[in-house]
Amino acid sequence: MEYSKKVMETFASPKHVGTIENASGVGKVGNPTCGDIMEISLLIDDNEVIKDAKFKTFGCAAAIASSSMATDMIIGMTVDQALKLKNKDVVEKLEGLPPQKIHCSVLAEEAIKLAVEDYRAKKTKK
Ligand code: FES
Repeated sequence: MEYSKKVMETFASPKHVGTIENASGVGKVGNPTCGDIMEISLLIDDNEVIKDAKFKTFGCAAAIASSSMATDMIIGMTVDQALKLKNKDVVEKLEGLPPQKIHCSVLAEEAIKLAVEDYRAKKTKK
């Protein structure tokens, strides 16, 4: 299995690792088959713009590269734009993933969706 240069670079020096304190929303997903877990936390301002995004991923190189790339892509987006982010957009930015590693990028798409849902649920409670 071959990883693209971009995946290797992103995996070797991932951006946005960690957790946001007092996050506006947090999404955590896992893949039962490989056992990998990804958590994405978001800081969202009053205009629904994502000011910051961080991730914690216990998973393979592709999952770490996908979370780094996905968080990097959504910073500056509105939550509606972030909801439209597809795993294939992340894969494209990573210059491809091996077929058996596509599910790793799906975790990033799902974690973002859950984090936005969490944010919306918290907001309606206020
Ligand atoms: Fe499951 Fe990568 S092998 S997330």
